[in-house]
Amino acid sequence: MKLAKCALLLAMALPQLALAHEAGDFFMRAGSATVRPTEGSDNVLGMGSFDVSNNTQLGLTFTYMATDNIGVELLAATPFRHKVGLAATGTLATVRQLPPTLMAQYYFFDSRSKVRPYVGVGVNYTTFYDADFNQTGRDAGLSDLSVKDSWGVAGQVGLDYQINRDWMLNASLWYMDIDTEVKFKHNGDQQNINTRIDPWVFFFGAGYRF
Ligand code: NI
Repeated sequence: MKLAKCALLLAMALPQLALAHEAGDFFMRAGSATVRPTEGSDNVLGMGSFDVSNNTQLGLTFTYMATDNIGVELLAATPFRHKVGLAATGTLATVRQLPPTLMAQYYFFDSRSKVRPYVGVGVNYTTFYDADFNQTGRDAGLSDLSVKDSWGVAGQVGLDYQINRDWMLNASLWYMDIDTEVKFKHNGDQQNINTRIDPWVFFFGAGYRF
């Protein structure tokens, strides 16, 4: 009883240590970001829809806490590289893309909590570049490949675990609505294929608060 009373008094005397995510905080996370397309497309030359491969890159997030619970976050990454093909032919082309995304976020619990789950919603812009057919594609009479940039909504759920005042661990899952048009020529005939990428992105990393 005496010990418990003592501990209680001590707890009351200590300042309320803010551990995680206070208004005005700026933090950055870095880790692995794996893009898994849930792809589909118009029928390509009567051979079905495009397959788009997964890819893992360095993911980065930059977050500003406007209040103890509301954050604004920019998602960025080194360029993702995807193989694009058809089930019947295998890979026909490769393309690179950058999908910067701006999120408005709500962090649950309060600034003393070691664990901060959060949800976010925002807007994604994806730019595609370096789209090229490989030898298989060229041999099949394919040329002049281009992939249109995309704007779409994005969502996320995530969890920060505060290790100490400066460092945290993070796991998060992002969804991006990415729809594009793939244009190319087949033996000189123009083809425009509506294609959806709509990936899930799996992020695991560490964060640092400045
Ligand atoms: Ni979509």
